[in-house]
Amino acid sequence: MNIALIGSGGREHALCQKLYNSDIVTKIFCIPGNAGTAPLAENLDIDFLNFNKLLSTIKFYNISLVVIGPELPLVRGMVDFLKKNKIKVFGPDKYAAQLEGSKAFMKSLCKKYKIPTARFKICKNKEDVTVFLSQCHMPVVVKADGLASGKGVTICQSKKEVRRFSSEIFLGRFKTSKKVILEEFLEGEEASYFLIVDINNFLFIGSAQDHKRVGENETGPNTGGMGAYSPAPIIDKNLEKKIINRIVKPTLKALKVKKHPYTGFLYVGLMIKNNEPYLIEYNVRMGDPECQVIMPRLKTDLVKLLNAAVENKLNEVKIKWSEDKCMAIVLCAKGYPNEYANNKKINLMNIKLTRKSFIFHAGTKIKNNLLFSNGGRILNIVVLGNSFLKIRNLIFKIIKTINWKWGFFRRDIGWRVIEKNENYKRFFKR
Ligand code: AMP
Ligand code: GLY
Repeated sequence: MNIALIGSGGREHALCQKLYNSDIVTKIFCIPGNAGTAPLAENLDIDFLNFNKLLSTIKFYNISLVVIGPELPLVRGMVDFLKKNKIKVFGPDKYAAQLEGSKAFMKSLCKKYKIPTARFKICKNKEDVTVFLSQCHMPVVVKADGLASGKGVTICQSKKEVRRFSSEIFLGRFKTSKKVILEEFLEGEEASYFLIVDINNFLFIGSAQDHKRVGENETGPNTGGMGAYSPAPIIDKNLEKKIINRIVKPTLKALKVKKHPYTGFLYVGLMIKNNEPYLIEYNVRMGDPECQVIMPRLKTDLVKLLNAAVENKLNEVKIKWSEDKCMAIVLCAKGYPNEYANNKKINLMNIKLTRKSFIFHAGTKIKNNLLFSNGGRILNIVVLGNSFLKIRNLIFKIIKTINWKWGFFRRDIGWRVIEKNENYKRFFKR
């Protein structure tokens, strides 16, 4: 069968590799893909948000399944459009995609179904902000309601800051919505829990922890993600039960009641406080870079899984995992997440990878047969192994060999798990 994969990041390269490894696939089309997907698939440089153009491309190439990587096409209703045109597609419809596309939708659902989450208020004006501020302690988290490319959340230490950021959102800083969500700040450890969902079933498809801040020791502005590791040891069986019963099941039920049952990957973003899970966010897709550390651990054929999901037969599959742990460190362009160097040559000729090491491209492109940077997050260096500390040292070695003078990366990815679970002091090497 021919498959189309929508998106162009590290997540899509990791998914593409897995699709490529499947016996059932004839040809993969990445729309638009990146330099990393080019040897595995045919990259088609079309604007996927032009749904009519996408449909004619799908028909022209005889594509039998469309897999959507990023959130924007889901939130814009790509699934509804393709289904209406009788194309098989994996992902949630526009209504269900509001779990990510509107924080007001997600928080209201939590309130209605008593799903544990931070106390909040949906604000439409300054008066609403004043009411919330009179009822809570600092810090307060200010969130834009709609999609904001990872820039819509600010943790504020003073009421003045809360008022300033809220006003910016009311004035239309983010085009997707002018509503503000104010939330109490939750202390704890963050972890992400992933599911693959069909109308009647859901299966666990990995846990991970990522590092969103740009700087070591969790400092500096938020980014799309500087690195991740899987599994997340904080999610044990006991916690998993609470996540499923208190968060996942009520959410899936709520969407079913609305006649928009959820299907696709579901990313449950959690804060764990005293062994209790609180929902921070839902994403209606795999995480990036979490996907890059989950896919290499997955032993089951991804295409079989996706087919089972679109046919509502996930109850007939069992997911098999490698025993290995996995870590990814993101090599970024200097300056990211602010203005960064772009269009810089990268040489990967001397890099020798093994069965357990991978480079998933994110912001890269090919020009005249040479590799160039094309974005802020450039490459994901990914290694499988039995100790996160050893894995991290192997990743450092690969990055050293890449020797890209325009890049930087965080050396402390996995600090929590390494300090807690592994003999950190004895092995620690800078
Ligand atoms: P979100 O887009 O809602 O996931 O927020 C982005 C990041 O902000 C999260 O990954 C957390 O690190 C942080 N954050 C969001 N909401 C809260 C909260 N209520 N308490 C503490 N940190 C938060
Ligand atoms: N790594 C965070 C995200 O994918 O949203």
